[in-house]
Amino acid sequence: MTSLSGAVSISGIRSFNGETSVPGDKSISHRALLISALSEGTSRIRGLSNGGDVRATATLISQLGAHVTQDGEHIIVQGGRDRLGPPGDTLDVGNSGTLIRLAAGLVAGLGGRYRFTGDDSVNRRPMKRIFVPLSQMGAEIEASNNGDTAPFAITSKQLHGITYLMPVASAQVKSSILLAGLGADGTTTVIEKIPTRRHTEEMLADAGASINFERFPDRSEISVKRSKLNPLEYDIPGDPSQAAFWIVAALITPGSKITIRNIYLGELRSDFLAVLKRMGAGLSINQRTRNSGDVTASSSQLHSTDISPHEIPGLIDEIPILSVAAACAAGTTTITGASELRVKESDRISVMTTALRSFGAEVDELPDGMAISGNRRLFGGKVQAHLDHRIAMATAVLGAAVEGTTEISGFDSVESSYPRFLDDFTALSEGRL
Ligand code: S3P
Repeated sequence: MTSLSGAVSISGIRSFNGETSVPGDKSISHRALLISALSEGTSRIRGLSNGGDVRATATLISQLGAHVTQDGEHIIVQGGRDRLGPPGDTLDVGNSGTLIRLAAGLVAGLGGRYRFTGDDSVNRRPMKRIFVPLSQMGAEIEASNNGDTAPFAITSKQLHGITYLMPVASAQVKSSILLAGLGADGTTTVIEKIPTRRHTEEMLADAGASINFERFPDRSEISVKRSKLNPLEYDIPGDPSQAAFWIVAALITPGSKITIRNIYLGELRSDFLAVLKRMGAGLSINQRTRNSGDVTASSSQLHSTDISPHEIPGLIDEIPILSVAAACAAGTTTITGASELRVKESDRISVMTTALRSFGAEVDELPDGMAISGNRRLFGGKVQAHLDHRIAMATAVLGAAVEGTTEISGFDSVESSYPRFLDDFTALSEGRL
């Protein structure tokens, strides 16, 4: 494998063997920092993601007035609502859609005027989905591009609670509203018809927020009131969406067996494991705590499956790597109900379709997904990562499973979530080229 200013070449066919761990879960890491910034006192965080996205969150809470330091393997945050306020500078979230949406909600509840921007990918992503509820709560928003994208400024004096029925299944939007609700008068209620990851409500409850969540057969309701938060000790397990790259790498390459230690296995985050099992994957899961464990994967003959709309929120981030598994599986895999993928770091439906075709795969692009006919003879592809870390990593894994050389440009996008990806790739597949 060679790496040249943001481009890499990967030669196959490789095997993956050994044990590894992956960076701390990105969703939990963002929230641990943001909630610590709001908590009255000193929080300690272990296992924080070391990617650029989460580093941007640490910088952002420092700009707001939290004090962030490192003590060995812990990140220490001294926070509290009274220390936080508008910085002189614009808040730059880099590549992180999660950060811009969650932080916008958080600062709306603090009061004052805050300016946000991000990289070219973030500045293309839809923001009306947070502007609508935050405006209903009393925030004023000035935004680019017909009021739908960053850069934007958000100003608020006093927010009031609302009841909001979520028009899209999005944990980012839900979390933005709940974080704003911590600083609003009255009760803020979010109603989700389709459940999404629950880290924000669970972590706010742990920090002592006045929050209730109830599940009904047809919906979930989460209500929050103005709250004082307590500092906590956080111990963050590994990110399942990163572990998924190594798991699929082992499944689709010959002579492979990999164990990923200590990954988050909680609800709505590890559903990709069930999909892979359905495809015939040789997986074993060693549950170590209620929400975490080790996963071992070995080379397997995969076959196709249908991934249906109700499954999508539980595996939204793993679709690029699942589409790679599908390209190596017998039969045609269909993925539907996944139109949200079009507004991630890149349009993941269009970008993955083009990428997989460049390897020789037969892919139909659907408005809300893909149909992938697998088990054809694939050969090294040519990929543009489009500022999207998951496209870079998913196609690197496919490059290891096929003959020839795969060229990926824009590979440095992996820095946002998994800076050591290439080192781990080399270590796990070394000696078997
Ligand atoms: C995230 C929620 C999901 C996911 C993203 C992280 C979060 O986005 O794709 O990688 O931490 O809340 P949406 O809420 O937009 O679906």
